[in-house]
Formats: sequence, C-alpha cells, structure tokens
Amino acid sequence: MAMKPPVEILRCPQTKGPLYWSGEDVLCSEDGAPRYRLINGVACGDTPGRGQDALDPSRSVSAFYESEGWEQDEHGQYKDTKAYVDTRATSLTFTRRCIDRLGRRFKRGGRYILDAGSGAIPHNELLNYGAKFEHRVCVDLSAPALWAAQQKVGERGVYVQGDLTNLPIQSGTMDAVTCNHVIYLIPAEQQKDAFLELWRVLKPGGVAVIVYWWPYAPLAVRMEKIANRFIDPGAAEAALDPFPKMYHYYHSRSWFESQDWPFRYEFDIYRIVDNGFLRNYVADDWRGALFLNGLFALQSAAPGFCGRHGVMPAIIIHKD
Ligand SMILES: C[S@@+](CC[C@H](N)C(=O)[O-])C[C@H]1O[C@@H](n2cnc3c(N)ncnc32)[C@H](O)[C@@H]1O
Repeated sequence: MAMKPPVEILRCPQTKGPLYWSGEDVLCSEDGAPRYRLINGVACGDTPGRGQDALDPSRSVSAFYESEGWEQDEHGQYKDTKAYVDTRATSLTFTRRCIDRLGRRFKRGGRYILDAGSGAIPHNELLNYGAKFEHRVCVDLSAPALWAAQQKVGERGVYVQGDLTNLPIQSGTMDAVTCNHVIYLIPAEQQKDAFLELWRVLKPGGVAVIVYWWPYAPLAVRMEKIANRFIDPGAAEAALDPFPKMYHYYHSRSWFESQDWPFRYEFDIYRIVDNGFLRNYVADDWRGALFLNGLFALQSAAPGFCGRHGVMPAIIIHKD
C-alpha cells in the first residue's frame, strides 16, 4: 500500500497555498475546500483537470491516457509502448541503454525525486532512477497511470494527480526531477510554464532531466542519408500498432535558447534518432545491433553535441 502523500511537499493547485488532511482520505486547502480524495493510494483531484475544455488542443492526450493508454495486453505490454516504441529486441535494447545512460544524473540521491508525467513507468531503467531516493513522487494527469505506477514503485511512492503547468508540489522540495516525453504533449504556449514549474519545485543544488524533442535535427537527417545509401528504406519496417492521433508540439532549439530562463541548463542526449528511423532502417539482427552500438558510442562521446543536433535531447536544468 502507498504512503499517504506528505502535506509538507504538497500545495493546492487552485490557491497555491498548503493542503491539510481532513479525515482519513480528503485533502483540503486553507479555505476548507476539498481538493483531493485518496482513492486506492492515489490522491485524485476533486475538480476536473485538463482535457475538459473543448478548446484545449491537448484534449486528445488526456483522453488517450485516461482510457486505454496504460492498459496492458496479455504479455503485459502497455498500449502506449506498443504504439510509440519500436519493441523489436535490437531497437528496444538500444532504447533501454539510452534511458539507462541518463540515470547517472541521479546518482547523488536524496529524499524525493519527482517523476513528472510518470505514466506507468514502462521500463525498469526508468524505475532505477529512483534507486538512491527515499521516495518517488509520481505526478500525472491520468489516475490510471498513477495506479499503474503504484504497481511498480509500491510504498516508497507518492501518487498525486496533477498538471505539469501548475504542479501540486511545494517550491524547493524535490532533490531531483525526471520528466520524459511529456512537455511536447502540452499546448505549445504552455510548455514554458511546465519548464518553469519543474525548476520551481527543485531544491537548491537539485537537477532536472527533461527529455524533449527538436523538430529539426541535422544529425538525424545525416544519419538518414547514410542509412539510405546502405539500407533499403522500409526493409526493416516493424509491424506496429497504428499511432493514436494525439497532440504533439515541438518547439525548436532556437525557441528554447531564446527564452529568458531563470536557470542554468545544458544539453545531454536521450536518442539521436526517433522510432520512425529505427523502424525504417534498423534490422533486428547483428547488423542493426552493430549500427546502434555505433550510435550509442557517439552519444556517449559527445552528449552535448548530440543533444543540440539529435532528435531527442535531454535538457538538464540546474538550480543553483
Ligand atoms: C508519453 S507518456 C510518458 C510516460 C513516461 N514518462 C515515460 O517516459 O514512459 C506521457 C504521460 O504524460 C502524462 N501527461 C501528459 N500531459 C500532462 C500534463 N500536462 N501534466 C501531467 N501529466 C501529463 C500522460 O498522462 C502520460 O501518462
């Protein structure tokens, strides 16, 4: 069973003030209004969240993750993973190595790591990010995602429904933040708020590792040109579930670099290429493995360069 979310790290998303427990399972704000109800270990918001407004372009995101996104098939695979990740053995091994490599950013450990938009924590390598922390605080719009995360993290976890653009977390309480494949699902004009929120909740000295997506990635284009010379495009195409139509918006690197951020940041890399590239060019055999070993070596040798010019950077935010 999950621990009760500790009120000292929570804040009311409506009033921005503290929350307190009223009885066994209701969290109220200072004005006495009930804001959260504890349902099977997850603090579920009492007021409708994102996705209710017909004009919100990211409605499709909440609809998918509230319903089938984190459902598992008979092999335990999530619908989200089947739709968006190349799960053939060679590609999946590479993806998992890339996740694992970023784990070195969390080696210092501490009391709390925030997993912002945790989903179901679909890879063990993501789960390992929390190994050196006393508690993993999982925040997600979707309650089914948090119930699934609870299956992985268990009683060391804290599970709170919430929106990254207005986190239900007190400022300066998190030792570290991990946020993977979430910000580009937020409406374009609110993504800046999400970056600022992740920085707000960090403790001084803390680090946030945010996996994002650049719309133009010259390194990936170069890789595609090389692959085109050697490989018949489409020859390696994997049978995947069709992508559910979902809102995505990728700001450019020049957009990111032109913002007046109050924080210091650097670029690292999650993956130079996307799943489309893996599906189209990477054979699920020794040739694919050899090619991906080369990519991994490049990412490890020049993470800053790859983070600026590859498709999926890891943006590292420091709170000084
Ligand atoms: C692509 S999944 C990523 C899950 C996990 N972080 C991973 O890397 O596998 C996106 C998750 O972000 C959540 N999400 C999307 N927009 C959000 C928002 N504005 N606030 C909080 N969670 C959000 C979704 O509900 C979903 O569980």
